[in-house]
Order: sequence, then C-alpha cells, then structure tokens
Amino acid sequence: MEDASDRIISLPVEDRYHTALQSYKKIYNESIEEPVSFWEREANVIDWFRKWEKVLDDSNPPFYRWFVSGKLNASYNALDRHIQTGKRNKVAFIWVAENGDEKIVSYDGLYYRVNKFAKALLDLGIKKGDRIIIYLPMILEAPIAMLAASRIGAAFSFVFAGFGPSAIAERINDSKAKLVITADGSYRAGKVIKLKEIVDSAIAETSSVTTVIVAKRIGLEVQMQEGRDLWWDDLIPRGSTYVRPEEMDANDPLFILYTSGTTGKPKGVVHSTGGYSVWVANTMKWAFDPKDDDRWWCAADIGWITGHSYIVFAPLFLGLTSIIYEGAITYPAPDRLWEIVEKYRVNLFYTSPTAIRTLIRYGKKYPEDHDLKSLRVLGTVGEPINPAVWKWYFEVIGGSRTPIIDTYWQTETGGFVLSPSIALGLAPLKPGSATFPMPGIVPKILDENGNEVKDGKKGFLVLNKPWPGMFLTLNNEPDRFKEVYFNRFNAYYSGDYAVKDNDGYFWLLGRADEILKVSGHRLGTIEIEDAIISSNDVAEVAVFGRPDEVKGEAIIAFVVLKQGFDISGDIIYSLRQHVRETLGPIYVPDEIHLVNALPKTRSGKIMRRVVKAVFLNEVPGDISTLENSASVEEIRQAIELVKKEALR
Ligand code: WTA
Repeated sequence: MEDASDRIISLPVEDRYHTALQSYKKIYNESIEEPVSFWEREANVIDWFRKWEKVLDDSNPPFYRWFVSGKLNASYNALDRHIQTGKRNKVAFIWVAENGDEKIVSYDGLYYRVNKFAKALLDLGIKKGDRIIIYLPMILEAPIAMLAASRIGAAFSFVFAGFGPSAIAERINDSKAKLVITADGSYRAGKVIKLKEIVDSAIAETSSVTTVIVAKRIGLEVQMQEGRDLWWDDLIPRGSTYVRPEEMDANDPLFILYTSGTTGKPKGVVHSTGGYSVWVANTMKWAFDPKDDDRWWCAADIGWITGHSYIVFAPLFLGLTSIIYEGAITYPAPDRLWEIVEKYRVNLFYTSPTAIRTLIRYGKKYPEDHDLKSLRVLGTVGEPINPAVWKWYFEVIGGSRTPIIDTYWQTETGGFVLSPSIALGLAPLKPGSATFPMPGIVPKILDENGNEVKDGKKGFLVLNKPWPGMFLTLNNEPDRFKEVYFNRFNAYYSGDYAVKDNDGYFWLLGRADEILKVSGHRLGTIEIEDAIISSNDVAEVAVFGRPDEVKGEAIIAFVVLKQGFDISGDIIYSLRQHVRETLGPIYVPDEIHLVNALPKTRSGKIMRRVVKAVFLNEVPGDISTLENSASVEEIRQAIELVKKEALR
C-alpha cells in the first residue's frame, strides 16, 4: 500500500495545548477502561422513563444492545422536558428559505404542532411499531413529522427530497410503508421541484401505500388522488391536543435510513431509540460545546444522517436554537450563507467541504461583505477536507479565531466517531485531520490481512468496540449486516482508508470500496450502473469516480450500447435524463463515454478498476486475467478523442 505520510501537514504540538490534550485523554481513557460507569453517567444526558437494567448486552455480537430494558421517548426528550424546565419560550428553529420566507418556532410552538400531528397520525390508524416514509424538503413539517412519528412509536424512514421515483419506490417497498408524508413542492436555486408528482410516480411502482399526506409549501396545484391523498392542514385536529409519548424500549428502532452500499440495493440502517439518543446528544456536546444562548446551524439536509442527528435530534435534545435553511447555498448570490450567519448571528456553523470549495471559487469578497464575528466554532463533515480548504475556512470565515471541528462519521455510526472535542479538551488541530476518537470509540488501522499497520501507513479503518450510537442492524437483512461490516476484520469495518500519524492523529483518505462521495453525497457506483442499464439501450456499463476539485468526486460512466443501436449525440442526453428521472439529479454522471467493449475477466466480470485506471492515466495493475485486452486500447482512444474535442 502507498505511504500516505506525504499527504500530512504536521504542525508542532504546542505546549499550551498539553493540558487540553490531557484532559481529553483522561475522559477518553475512562470511557475505554470503565465503560459501564462511564455510560451509566453519560446516559443521563437523556431523560428515561425507566432506567436500563444493563448498560451493554454483548452476548450476541455483532448485535450489541445498549441500555437494555431502559424506556424513553425521543419526542419527549426533544420537547416535553424543555417545556417543563423553563424553555417554553426559547426558539427551537429559525426557518429561512431562499425566497426570503422565514418562520420562527419556539419549543412550545413545536410541541404544540408535534402533538397535533401525532394525533392526526393516530387518527389515521398509524400506531406503535408501524413504518412510515417521509419525503419532505427543508421545511418545519420535516422535524414535526419525525418527532410526531417518534412520539407514537412509529419508526420513520426519511427519503432525501433529491431522490427520484425509483429510489423512493425501493425504500417504500423495503419498509412496506403504508403512509408517505410529502409536500406539494419546494424551491431550489429559484426552480420549483414538484415533489408530489415525484411521489406519485414512485407509488406507482409499489403496493403497500394507502395514504399520502401532503404539506402545502409553495401552493403548487397538485393532483390529489381520492381516498389516498390528504392535505396536512386538513388533518390537524381542533382544540387542545396532547398525545402521551409512547414508552419505547431503548432498542426499539427510532428510524431507518437507507444508504448506499456496494451492491445496487441500498442498505436500511436501523437506529435504536436509546443508544442513538445518548450518542448524538453527547457527541454534539463534546465536540462543539454549545452554550444555551448559542445559535447552531447545521447546513446539511434533514434527509441525510447529518440532518437527522444534528439538525433534529441532538440540538433538540440539548434544548438549543437552530437554523434550518431551505434552498441552494449560492442562491440568489454566493453570499447566501454569510448573509444568514450575519443576520441571525450564528455562533456554531457546520457544513461540508464541498460547500466550502464551492464558495472558495467565488472569492473572499462575499464573506468579507458580511459581519461574521458571531461565529465561534466551525465544523465540517462528509468527506475529507483538503488542508488548503481547511485553512481558507479557518482564516476567511473564522477570522483565524474559530477551531475547525472536522467530524468523521457515517450513517451507520449515528453520530461523530472521530472529531476534535472542545468540551473535553481541544488538542491542537492539524488541517485535514479529524484528530482523535470520541469517548468509547476504538479505531484501528489494518492491512489486508487484518494486522495493524505502522503509524504513517495507510490502511483500512475499523472500530474495535461497540458504541451506543452504533446501528442495530440492516432492515430485513441481518446476515448482510454481519457480512458487510463484521466478517472481513472481525470488528466494525468502515469501508474507509485512513492513516494515523506519529502524534496519534487520524487522517481519512477516502473510501476503500465501490462507494463514491459526490458533493458529500454517498452514492453507490452499482446503483448508478443499474439505473443506466435499465434504460433499455445499454448492454454494459462501468461507473467510477474521478477526483474533482469542487465536488470531491465526479461520476464517470463508460457505456456499451446494445447492438444495432444508432450512436448519435442524443443518447448521452437521454441516458443522463434517465438517471435523473429514476435515481434523482445527484446521481447524474458528469461524463458518459460510449465504447464498443469494456475490459472483462474471462468469467465475464467487467473490470471497473481497469477502466478507471486507464481513464485516470494510471497503471491499470494486473490485467493478465483480461479476456479482451483490445478494449483497454479502445478506452484510451475514447479518452483521447474527448481530450482533443476539449482542445478544439
Ligand atoms: C465520509 C456522513 C473524511 C467517509 C456523515 C464515510 C468523511 C462517509 C468525513 C459516510 C470526514 C464523512 N472526513 N471523510 N470528516 N465524514 N466522511 O454515511 O467516507 O453519508 O465513510 O455519513 O463519508 O457517509 P454518510
């Protein structure tokens, strides 16, 4: 494996930080050496209806169960307990939309609306143990629907509103949901997104859905199917409404979130109620050290895990005030984010490297036009952050005052697993490193044979011990859960490459599998291949990522059309359109190349690795098993042709 140390920028560990590092280490060591007493204490970040009998049941690995027999409710922890303890009038969310719309809701206001909607769900026959689908844009109805579902004990599955019909249908079918909650539409970069229409096409490919609730966001005229579709507002009961929060078991599922894996079928990551809640609340507290008076802005989408954990659950569990923004970050102008930071005097700001790289291109002028002095802490998530981008974020946005909290984690981990932690003791930062593990996390870097590599060497990142925020299983696929994550190394395998430097800092080096990170979105190459193949004109396809300065990775597809198909310019357009209409816009390949053959093994397996290497002008490695070596030359020629055309 290549030596990764050349990617590391080392900064000397200054003396004045030693105390902070020691303080972090003391707590970290306690979490590893005395896990039971550690979690006995830290689990009190959440209110429990009944205390657990055992902190961790590890009798059936890898199906670890935390806070066994403990009883709680997530909606109660997000709302009721704050109402009872003097935070009734505190602002829970400031909602801002790109067209200038704004709504501010207090904890009491949110509590009121969640109770009303929970009652509406009960009246529709939704009950504890049911599964529902939420397909909503960044509007207040999103957290309201999530909390109402949790209140009555129905596990929700949120589908990111950028997904297309097939992706939604697949998730509905896997969870056999009866109810879908959506909106008429949404705005993005000035365009109208017709969400209800997309849901209608998705439902046509499913059989379980009997009810669709439609929130009115933009006043779009939509087709309401008699007997199935209902307006959100029409369901809200009159008069005072209180729905008693269900007593949920710590290991009852809170939600299922589908994420891309290395096969075409997305994985339904199931999160628990107890362990997950304890994990997200604590990790947010440790890493960002939010104060009661702060304004927090996690600029992710609620439809991804980042939004679930750090827009909805953790900030509400901690009783914080958050911004929710609906819209594009450069609309109407590239200072959109900074305008919001200034106007709402945001203190803690959390976004992705792609967002920062996008804004860097527009220059310093835009942030410099705004007063960003309210910012105290900046965070990043979703992909490795280049040291130069880290420094720009630190200097231009943070005025060289704010620490950069680079949080490494995954849908499966529920919350941060590697991150600097202000509340525990902030070690000196190194631009581009997610620094150290959160309490309870034991990261190791292994070689192909499962042996630990030396410091400074690249390897596979695994987590050796269970932690409370760890997912329970994969929905309907316990065997896949074991196989994908635990079989290879007998520990939780993250699928990421990483390196640990001589000071013990961790550096993430990208995915080690068939997963792409495009603008921070996690996409499976095979999902995209399946979508392209389903277009009827395509015989074979290979999809892979190429490094991209802004998006992290760009999607490249090499396609062999079916025999007799007339190759014309339009096919590329229609293939892109096909991917957009099935999976959604984030999956559309940046480049599609048509070739007559793809390199294959003798057993007929397409060698994506070889196509990628040739494309990137790297040595393709061992191609002795290749059945049709002429195809390699053809790919080379196709690329040459593109280069020549680009020069013209
Ligand atoms: C990548 C997003 C480097 C990583 C929360 C991981 C990161 C995948 C970082 C999970 C980071 C996330 N530095 N890489 N700070 N954070 N990743 O499930 O490849 O959408 O495996 O969860 O994002 O993506 P997911």
